[in-house]
Amino acid sequence: MGGHEQKYVEEAFRTNWIAPLGPNVNLFEQAIQDYIKQDVQVAALSTGTAAIHLGLELLGVSKGDEVLCQSFTFSASANPIMYLGATPVFVDSETSTWNMCPILLREAIVDRISKGKKPKAIVAVHLYGMPYQVMEIRAVADEFDIPIVEDSAEALGSAYQGINCSSFGDIGILSFNGNKIITTSGGGALVTKNENIKQKAVFLATQARDNAPHYQHSQVGYNYRMSNVLAGIGRGQMEVLDERVAARRSNFDFYKSSLDNFEEIEFLNEPAGFFSNRWLSCILTPTYEIRETIRLALLEEDIESRPLWKPMHCQPIFEKFPNYVSGISEELFQRGLCLPSGSNLNTADLERVVTIIIKELTR
Ligand SMILES: Cc1ncc(COP(=O)(O)O)c(C=O)c1O
Repeated sequence: MGGHEQKYVEEAFRTNWIAPLGPNVNLFEQAIQDYIKQDVQVAALSTGTAAIHLGLELLGVSKGDEVLCQSFTFSASANPIMYLGATPVFVDSETSTWNMCPILLREAIVDRISKGKKPKAIVAVHLYGMPYQVMEIRAVADEFDIPIVEDSAEALGSAYQGINCSSFGDIGILSFNGNKIITTSGGGALVTKNENIKQKAVFLATQARDNAPHYQHSQVGYNYRMSNVLAGIGRGQMEVLDERVAARRSNFDFYKSSLDNFEEIEFLNEPAGFFSNRWLSCILTPTYEIRETIRLALLEEDIESRPLWKPMHCQPIFEKFPNYVSGISEELFQRGLCLPSGSNLNTADLERVVTIIIKELTR
């Protein structure tokens, strides 16, 4: 926590706003809007997953539709496609950002259309905080007039050409889950430039209650709004977001400068114009075996590290769905490792990690 969170939570208690609405919710939304800029409107929700679900629904996705989704991601990018009874179609990554490959995306769209179904939406992800190729993905989406859900769950504080992530999609989403760069313990947000979309998101997130003195409902709603207590945590966290980004980037710089001399270790560099919050510091090793040797050596010292995300097209739940893959995400999964990346790590912590890795590389 940054320092002021408790004050805002106490405010909620003192004023008895213990509900999924109230001043903290409004002020948290305002703080995010002021941070992202680009005239965005923000709806604070219970989770990032809920934001993707509402986003897809608001873009008109329904039963039987197809939705293109980055394969190299966390399952929460794809699960809401299933909630809506739609079919995910997975697209592999390119090597410069590890995110959705615009060439494969185009191929996938052309092929789906030739098979008789134009995809309804694209879920593109800024994985580990690295922006996807925003301009190229947008160009393909516009060519075929398909809207984008911009999954910025891991990318608050990241930017492309100086513009903050979550403002590029037709709908953007953020996550404030406990592991994210800032947190409300659990929480998310839907980001849009359209006031009408924000109002519809809030309407659906509060059980789709019609404007009537009694309880009346003309469509199915959800209980997805953020609690005013948790939004108090969010207000405090927004005050330290830039510090958190600096801390995560400094972790990455430490790892990179310490391991740069070892040709076995590769890092994902920022292409020109890309700014990553470096939510997690990741490395690539030459082989699965070396990756595992390092992971297990760290574990032996009680240090947790994790393989990169296992692609969705390889997951038992999703492997039966169509995919357009090149092998890149599978290779990243085999060879990649997320190193300890918390914003509270100190130099001694980072040195411990690096020392163990170097020991394994020089064995
Ligand atoms: C890429 C990605 N998308 C979506 C989510 C879902 O966010 P939440 O945990 O807030 O539901 C997460 C994180 O959990 C994520 O990493």
